Amino acid sequence: MEVIIRQDEEAAARMVARLVARQLRLKPDSVLGLATGRTMERVYAELVSMHRSGGLDFSLCRTFNLDEYVGLEPSDSHSYRYYMNENLFKRVNIDLRNTHLPHGMATDLKAECAHYESLIASVGGIDLQLLGIGETGHIGFNEPLSSLRSRTRDKCLTPSTISVNSTLFGDEPHRMPRRAITMGVGTILDAREVILLATGPRKAGIMAKAVEGPVTAMVSASALQLHPACKVIVDEAAGADFKETDYYRWVFENEPEWEPYRGNPQD
Ligand code: F6R
Repeated sequence: MEVIIRQDEEAAARMVARLVARQLRLKPDSVLGLATGRTMERVYAELVSMHRSGGLDFSLCRTFNLDEYVGLEPSDSHSYRYYMNENLFKRVNIDLRNTHLPHGMATDLKAECAHYESLIASVGGIDLQLLGIGETGHIGFNEPLSSLRSRTRDKCLTPSTISVNSTLFGDEPHRMPRRAITMGVGTILDAREVILLATGPRKAGIMAKAVEGPVTAMVSASALQLHPACKVIVDEAAGADFKETDYYRWVFENEPEWEPYRGNPQD
């Protein structure tokens, strides 16, 4: 695991977008694992601008989202399919047939989850998986006590996640679903590379547990310590509770891979 601390949320999101762009240039038919949520909005805005001004090409890439609410139609403005269409897919040259999210309206959820796993396997697995983190430590919707070997399944959300995410439902917070289909922790760990992005002071406590605490099913994101190619990118606020900040900065300043990203801390 590598931890990179950027000055603010714009700089952290820009760095994630640059790493996604690097992946797409190296392998135009990459399989990307995508996340939704407030944190990712800036990453997608940055990718859209790279597409518009720099010709970043999405035409061959395939995408699999981490999760989708159970019980929302894809056309529902609160569904993750809707979020992805609005924030990224409609704004770049991606072929919508190459974009995948679990179907939250499936009548047989178990079969839908198995199908999702087999779709990911059929394209050779995920090259680069983007992750946000919830205040419960969830990645995807793997709430506390999710097995560290779990696969795609439908999961009961915690009261904390329901309360945090229901604020996105405007004047209809009661419409916030109680369940979601999510890739499992094991599914996420199978990705060849993983980038976790966390920003803002509300994520500082859980980020310190995920990165510097023990690997535990109580904090699903701590399982990323087991991943051989995981980058954690935070802004100063989300990194505020780390103990080993000086060491993370030293590695960033010295690793040749990060040479193009050094210099302006806002970049
Ligand atoms: C969403 C997802 C979640 C979010 C997490 C953080 O697809 O998988 O794990 O990444 O809940 O959400 P925000 O960014 O809204 O704080």
